Amino acid sequence: MARQRDIPAAVAEAAIVLIVLFLAFVAAFAGWAVGHSTRHTRTVTVAGAASSSSSAPIDPHVAAGAHDFSQFACAQCHGDRGRGGVSPDVPALSGVASQLTSTRLRSIIDHGLGESKNPTKPYMPVWGEVISKQQVSDLIAYLRAGLPAVPTAEPPAIPQGQGLAVEGATLYVRDGCINCHGPNGLGGVPNPQSPDKRIPSLSGVAFRKQFNTDAKIIAVIRSGSVIGRAPIVSMPHWGGIIPNDQLNALVAYLKTLK
Ligand code: HEC
Ligand code: HEC
Repeated sequence: MARQRDIPAAVAEAAIVLIVLFLAFVAAFAGWAVGHSTRHTRTVTVAGAASSSSSAPIDPHVAAGAHDFSQFACAQCHGDRGRGGVSPDVPALSGVASQLTSTRLRSIIDHGLGESKNPTKPYMPVWGEVISKQQVSDLIAYLRAGLPAVPTAEPPAIPQGQGLAVEGATLYVRDGCINCHGPNGLGGVPNPQSPDKRIPSLSGVAFRKQFNTDAKIIAVIRSGSVIGRAPIVSMPHWGGIIPNDQLNALVAYLKTLK
Protein backbone atom coordinates (compact mmCIF):
# COMPACT_ATOMS: atom_id res chain seq x y z
CA MET A 1 0.00 0.00 0.00
CA ALA A 2 2.86 2.33 0.90
CA ARG A 3 4.54 1.63 -2.49
CA GLN A 4 1.34 2.35 -4.36
CA ARG A 5 1.22 5.82 -2.73
CA ASP A 6 4.96 6.45 -3.48
CA ILE A 7 4.75 5.97 -7.21
CA PRO A 8 2.10 8.67 -7.98
CA ALA A 9 3.95 11.01 -5.56
CA ALA A 10 7.19 10.59 -7.53
CA VAL A 11 5.31 11.15 -10.79
CA ALA A 12 3.70 14.27 -9.38
CA GLU A 13 7.11 15.55 -8.21
CA ALA A 14 8.62 14.99 -11.64
CA ALA A 15 5.68 16.71 -13.27
CA ILE A 16 6.08 19.75 -10.99
CA VAL A 17 9.80 19.95 -11.81
CA LEU A 18 9.01 19.80 -15.54
CA ILE A 19 6.35 22.50 -15.21
CA VAL A 20 8.73 24.78 -13.25
CA LEU A 21 11.48 24.27 -15.85
CA PHE A 22 8.99 24.96 -18.62
CA LEU A 23 7.75 28.17 -16.94
CA ALA A 24 11.35 29.33 -16.36
CA PHE A 25 12.06 28.76 -20.04
CA VAL A 26 8.91 30.64 -21.09
CA ALA A 27 9.82 33.56 -18.79
CA ALA A 28 13.38 33.68 -20.10
CA PHE A 29 12.18 33.58 -23.69
CA ALA A 30 9.57 36.29 -23.03
CA GLY A 31 12.25 38.47 -21.40
CA TRP A 32 14.56 38.04 -24.35
CA ALA A 33 11.74 38.67 -26.83
CA VAL A 34 10.66 41.91 -25.06
CA GLY A 35 14.25 43.16 -24.86
CA HIS A 36 14.79 42.26 -28.47
CA SER A 37 11.62 43.93 -29.69
CA THR A 38 12.29 47.08 -27.57
CA ARG A 39 15.73 47.38 -29.07
CA HIS A 40 14.22 46.81 -32.46
CA THR A 41 11.57 49.53 -31.87
CA ARG A 42 14.22 51.98 -30.69
CA THR A 43 16.26 51.41 -33.80
CA VAL A 44 13.19 52.08 -35.94
CA THR A 45 12.40 55.32 -34.03
CA VAL A 46 15.90 56.68 -34.39
CA ALA A 47 15.96 55.79 -38.05
CA GLY A 48 12.54 57.43 -38.50
CA ALA A 49 13.62 60.65 -36.75
CA ALA A 50 16.84 60.74 -38.74
CA SER A 51 15.04 60.26 -42.03
CA SER A 52 12.34 62.86 -41.25
CA SER A 53 14.93 65.46 -40.24
CA SER A 54 17.07 64.71 -43.27
CA SER A 55 14.04 65.10 -45.55
CA ALA A 56 13.30 68.56 -44.03
CA PRO A 57 16.51 69.93 -42.51
CA ILE A 58 16.20 73.22 -40.62
CA ASP A 59 18.85 75.73 -41.66
CA PRO A 60 20.91 76.53 -38.52
CA HIS A 61 20.45 80.29 -39.09
CA VAL A 62 16.67 79.90 -39.40
CA ALA A 63 16.66 77.79 -36.21
CA ALA A 64 18.79 80.38 -34.38
CA GLY A 65 16.45 83.13 -35.65
CA ALA A 66 13.41 81.25 -34.32
CA HIS A 67 15.04 81.04 -30.89
CA ASP A 68 15.97 84.75 -31.04
CA PHE A 69 12.36 85.55 -32.01
CA SER A 70 11.28 83.88 -28.78
CA GLN A 71 14.13 85.24 -26.61
CA PHE A 72 13.60 88.88 -27.61
CA ALA A 73 9.83 88.61 -27.16
CA CYS A 74 9.06 89.41 -30.81
CA ALA A 75 6.31 86.78 -30.44
CA GLN A 76 4.73 88.61 -27.47
CA CYS A 77 3.95 91.63 -29.67
CA HIS A 78 3.79 90.12 -33.18
CA GLY A 79 2.10 86.86 -32.16
CA ASP A 80 3.12 83.23 -32.28
CA ARG A 81 5.36 82.79 -35.36
CA GLY A 82 4.60 86.42 -36.28
CA ARG A 83 0.98 85.71 -37.15
CA GLY A 84 -0.33 88.85 -35.41
CA GLY A 85 -3.56 89.01 -33.42
CA VAL A 86 -2.05 90.44 -30.22
CA SER A 87 -2.87 94.14 -30.69
CA PRO A 88 -4.34 96.16 -33.57
CA ASP A 89 -1.23 98.39 -33.31
CA VAL A 90 1.24 95.57 -34.04
CA PRO A 91 1.36 94.16 -37.58
CA ALA A 92 1.76 90.44 -38.44
CA LEU A 93 5.17 89.63 -39.90
CA SER A 94 4.09 86.79 -42.20
CA GLY A 95 4.54 88.69 -45.47
CA VAL A 96 7.09 91.26 -44.34
CA ALA A 97 10.17 89.54 -45.81
CA SER A 98 8.67 89.52 -49.31
CA GLN A 99 7.90 93.26 -49.09
CA LEU A 100 11.08 94.59 -47.45
CA THR A 101 14.77 94.19 -48.28
CA SER A 102 17.16 92.69 -45.73
CA THR A 103 18.77 96.12 -45.30
CA ARG A 104 15.39 97.65 -44.43
CA LEU A 105 14.55 94.79 -42.03
CA ARG A 106 17.91 95.24 -40.29
CA SER A 107 17.30 98.97 -39.97
CA ILE A 108 13.82 98.42 -38.46
CA ILE A 109 15.13 95.90 -35.89
CA ASP A 110 18.16 98.04 -34.99
CA HIS A 111 16.43 101.44 -34.89
CA GLY A 112 12.79 100.68 -34.15
CA LEU A 113 9.74 102.07 -35.92
CA GLY A 114 6.55 103.96 -35.21
CA GLU A 115 5.36 106.59 -32.81
CA SER A 116 7.73 106.13 -29.92
CA LYS A 117 6.64 109.55 -28.61
CA ASN A 118 3.00 108.51 -28.36
CA PRO A 119 2.52 107.04 -24.88
CA THR A 120 -0.82 105.45 -25.80
CA LYS A 121 0.47 102.97 -28.39
CA PRO A 122 3.03 100.20 -28.70
CA TYR A 123 5.96 100.98 -31.02
CA MET A 124 8.70 98.80 -32.45
CA PRO A 125 11.51 98.99 -29.86
CA VAL A 126 15.12 99.97 -30.64
CA TRP A 127 17.23 96.82 -30.38
CA GLY A 128 20.57 97.88 -31.91
CA GLU A 129 22.55 97.98 -28.66
CA VAL A 130 20.96 94.79 -27.33
CA ILE A 131 20.77 92.29 -30.23
CA SER A 132 24.03 91.33 -32.00
CA LYS A 133 24.62 91.67 -35.77
CA GLN A 134 24.66 87.87 -36.06
CA GLN A 135 21.35 87.57 -34.18
CA VAL A 136 19.73 90.19 -36.44
CA SER A 137 20.98 88.23 -39.50
CA ASP A 138 19.46 85.07 -38.02
CA LEU A 139 16.16 86.87 -37.31
CA ILE A 140 16.08 88.03 -40.94
CA ALA A 141 16.81 84.45 -42.13
CA TYR A 142 13.86 83.29 -39.98
CA LEU A 143 11.54 85.98 -41.44
CA ARG A 144 12.73 85.13 -44.98
CA ALA A 145 12.05 81.41 -44.37
CA GLY A 146 8.40 82.28 -43.57
CA LEU A 147 8.63 81.94 -39.74
CA PRO A 148 8.45 78.12 -39.68
CA ALA A 149 7.74 76.12 -36.50
CA VAL A 150 11.09 75.17 -34.95
CA PRO A 151 11.12 72.56 -32.15
CA THR A 152 11.80 73.99 -28.65
CA ALA A 153 11.80 77.62 -29.91
CA GLU A 154 8.49 78.38 -28.18
CA PRO A 155 8.41 81.01 -25.39
CA PRO A 156 8.54 79.47 -21.88
CA ALA A 157 5.15 78.27 -20.54
CA ILE A 158 3.63 80.36 -17.72
CA PRO A 159 3.44 78.32 -14.48
CA GLN A 160 -0.11 78.10 -13.08
CA GLY A 161 -1.21 77.88 -9.46
CA GLN A 162 2.20 78.63 -7.95
CA GLY A 163 1.62 82.24 -7.02
CA LEU A 164 2.07 85.61 -8.73
CA ALA A 165 5.82 85.94 -8.10
CA VAL A 166 6.57 82.61 -9.82
CA GLU A 167 4.38 83.61 -12.74
CA GLY A 168 6.13 86.98 -12.89
CA ALA A 169 9.60 85.42 -12.91
CA THR A 170 8.67 83.51 -16.08
CA LEU A 171 7.03 86.56 -17.65
CA TYR A 172 10.24 88.51 -17.00
CA VAL A 173 11.92 86.04 -19.41
CA ARG A 174 8.95 85.48 -21.72
CA ASP A 175 8.41 89.23 -22.30
CA GLY A 176 12.13 89.72 -22.86
CA CYS A 177 12.63 92.12 -19.91
CA ILE A 178 15.71 90.08 -18.98
CA ASN A 179 17.51 91.02 -22.22
CA CYS A 180 17.51 94.71 -21.29
CA HIS A 181 17.33 94.73 -17.48
CA GLY A 182 19.59 91.73 -16.86
CA PRO A 183 19.11 88.55 -14.84
CA ASN A 184 17.34 89.18 -11.53
CA GLY A 185 16.84 92.85 -12.52
CA LEU A 186 20.50 93.54 -11.88
CA GLY A 187 20.81 95.88 -14.87
CA GLY A 188 24.17 96.70 -16.42
CA VAL A 189 23.27 96.28 -20.12
CA PRO A 190 25.15 99.03 -22.02
CA ASN A 191 23.14 101.91 -23.53
CA PRO A 192 26.13 104.12 -24.40
CA GLN A 193 24.30 107.23 -25.63
CA SER A 194 21.79 107.43 -22.80
CA PRO A 195 22.51 109.76 -19.84
CA ASP A 196 23.18 106.79 -17.51
CA LYS A 197 25.17 104.86 -20.19
CA ARG A 198 23.29 101.73 -19.04
CA ILE A 199 19.78 100.34 -19.03
CA PRO A 200 18.60 100.76 -15.42
CA SER A 201 18.42 97.92 -12.91
CA LEU A 202 15.02 96.97 -11.49
CA SER A 203 16.39 96.18 -8.06
CA GLY A 204 18.34 98.00 -5.40
CA VAL A 205 17.63 100.91 -3.05
CA ALA A 206 17.43 103.66 -5.71
CA PHE A 207 14.89 101.72 -7.80
CA ARG A 208 12.73 100.88 -4.82
CA LYS A 209 12.81 104.49 -3.60
CA GLN A 210 11.67 105.90 -6.96
CA PHE A 211 9.19 103.10 -7.71
CA ASN A 212 7.72 102.76 -4.24
CA THR A 213 4.20 101.69 -5.26
CA ASP A 214 2.82 98.95 -7.51
CA ALA A 215 0.93 101.61 -9.46
CA LYS A 216 4.13 103.50 -10.38
CA ILE A 217 5.82 100.32 -11.63
CA ILE A 218 2.75 99.29 -13.63
CA ALA A 219 2.42 102.78 -15.13
CA VAL A 220 5.96 102.76 -16.56
CA ILE A 221 5.61 99.22 -17.95
CA ARG A 222 2.32 100.17 -19.63
CA SER A 223 3.41 103.49 -21.13
CA GLY A 224 7.11 102.81 -21.70
CA SER A 225 9.56 105.67 -21.38
CA VAL A 226 11.37 107.19 -24.32
CA ILE A 227 14.83 108.51 -23.42
CA GLY A 228 15.86 109.50 -26.93
CA ARG A 229 16.06 108.45 -30.56
CA ALA A 230 17.87 105.38 -31.88
CA PRO A 231 20.50 104.16 -31.28
CA ILE A 232 19.45 105.01 -27.72
CA VAL A 233 17.44 102.11 -26.29
CA SER A 234 14.19 103.17 -24.58
CA MET A 235 11.65 101.32 -22.48
CA PRO A 236 9.08 99.74 -24.85
CA HIS A 237 5.35 100.41 -24.46
CA TRP A 238 3.58 97.27 -23.20
CA GLY A 239 0.04 98.67 -22.77
CA GLY A 240 -2.42 96.58 -24.79
CA ILE A 241 0.22 93.82 -25.01
CA ILE A 242 0.66 92.56 -21.44
CA PRO A 243 -2.71 91.92 -19.72
CA ASN A 244 -3.37 93.43 -16.25
CA ASP A 245 -3.05 90.18 -14.30
CA GLN A 246 0.37 89.63 -15.85
CA LEU A 247 1.44 93.19 -14.98
CA ASN A 248 0.57 92.38 -11.35
CA ALA A 249 2.63 89.18 -11.60
CA LEU A 250 5.64 91.08 -12.96
CA VAL A 251 5.40 93.55 -10.06
CA ALA A 252 5.14 90.68 -7.54
CA TYR A 253 8.32 89.19 -9.03
CA LEU A 254 10.21 92.53 -9.05
CA LYS A 255 9.39 92.93 -5.35
CA THR A 256 11.20 89.65 -4.58
CA LEU A 257 14.49 91.05 -5.93
CA LYS A 258 17.40 92.44 -3.94
C1 HEC B 1 6.71 95.92 -27.64
C2 HEC B 1 6.14 95.32 -28.84
C3 HEC B 1 7.09 94.88 -29.93
C4 HEC B 1 8.14 94.00 -29.83
C5 HEC B 1 8.66 93.30 -28.58
C6 HEC B 1 8.63 93.81 -31.17
N1 HEC B 1 7.95 94.58 -32.05
FE1 HEC B 1 8.26 94.68 -34.07
N2 HEC B 1 6.85 96.12 -34.22
C7 HEC B 1 6.04 96.58 -33.19
C8 HEC B 1 5.14 97.60 -33.70
C9 HEC B 1 4.09 98.37 -32.90
C10 HEC B 1 5.42 97.73 -35.09
C11 HEC B 1 4.73 98.66 -36.08
C12 HEC B 1 5.42 100.00 -36.06
C13 HEC B 1 4.78 100.96 -37.01
O1 HEC B 1 4.66 100.62 -38.20
O2 HEC B 1 4.43 102.04 -36.57
C14 HEC B 1 6.49 96.78 -35.38
C15 HEC B 1 7.05 96.61 -36.63
C16 HEC B 1 7.97 95.63 -36.96
C17 HEC B 1 8.46 95.36 -38.30
C18 HEC B 1 8.01 96.08 -39.57
C19 HEC B 1 6.72 95.45 -40.03
C20 HEC B 1 6.12 96.10 -41.25
O3 HEC B 1 5.18 95.49 -41.79
O4 HEC B 1 6.56 97.19 -41.63
C21 HEC B 1 9.35 94.32 -38.21
C22 HEC B 1 10.13 93.67 -39.34
C23 HEC B 1 9.42 93.95 -36.81
N3 HEC B 1 8.56 94.75 -36.08
C24 HEC B 1 10.20 92.91 -36.33
C25 HEC B 1 10.33 92.62 -34.97
C26 HEC B 1 11.28 91.68 -34.44
C27 HEC B 1 12.21 90.82 -35.28
C28 HEC B 1 11.16 91.71 -33.08
C29 HEC B 1 11.96 90.97 -32.04
C30 HEC B 1 13.39 91.24 -32.09
C31 HEC B 1 10.11 92.66 -32.78
N4 HEC B 1 9.64 93.20 -33.94
C32 HEC B 1 9.69 92.96 -31.48
C33 HEC B 1 6.08 96.15 -31.87
C34 HEC B 1 6.99 95.25 -31.34
C1 HEC C 1 14.56 97.11 -25.28
C2 HEC C 1 15.01 97.17 -23.91
C3 HEC C 1 13.99 97.06 -22.82
C4 HEC C 1 13.07 96.05 -22.60
C5 HEC C 1 12.83 94.83 -23.46
C6 HEC C 1 12.41 96.36 -21.37
N1 HEC C 1 12.88 97.52 -20.85
FE1 HEC C 1 12.27 98.41 -19.12
N2 HEC C 1 13.46 100.00 -19.52
C7 HEC C 1 14.34 100.11 -20.57
C8 HEC C 1 15.01 101.40 -20.49
C9 HEC C 1 16.07 101.90 -21.45
C10 HEC C 1 14.51 102.05 -19.35
C11 HEC C 1 14.86 103.46 -18.83
C12 HEC C 1 13.79 104.43 -19.24
C13 HEC C 1 14.03 105.82 -18.67
O1 HEC C 1 15.04 106.02 -18.02
O2 HEC C 1 13.18 106.68 -18.90
C14 HEC C 1 13.54 101.13 -18.76
C15 HEC C 1 12.82 101.41 -17.60
C16 HEC C 1 12.03 100.48 -16.93
C17 HEC C 1 11.42 100.71 -15.63
C18 HEC C 1 11.58 101.96 -14.81
C19 HEC C 1 12.93 101.89 -14.12
C20 HEC C 1 13.70 103.17 -14.13
O3 HEC C 1 14.65 103.26 -13.31
O4 HEC C 1 13.42 104.07 -14.95
C21 HEC C 1 10.73 99.57 -15.30
C22 HEC C 1 9.96 99.29 -14.03
C23 HEC C 1 10.92 98.65 -16.40
N3 HEC C 1 11.70 99.24 -17.37
C24 HEC C 1 10.36 97.38 -16.44
C25 HEC C 1 10.43 96.54 -17.54
C26 HEC C 1 9.73 95.29 -17.64
C27 HEC C 1 8.88 94.66 -16.56
C28 HEC C 1 10.02 94.79 -18.89
C29 HEC C 1 9.46 93.52 -19.52
C30 HEC C 1 8.02 93.51 -19.66
C31 HEC C 1 10.91 95.71 -19.54
N4 HEC C 1 11.14 96.76 -18.70
C32 HEC C 1 11.45 95.54 -20.81
C33 HEC C 1 14.57 99.16 -21.56
C34 HEC C 1 13.84 97.99 -21.71
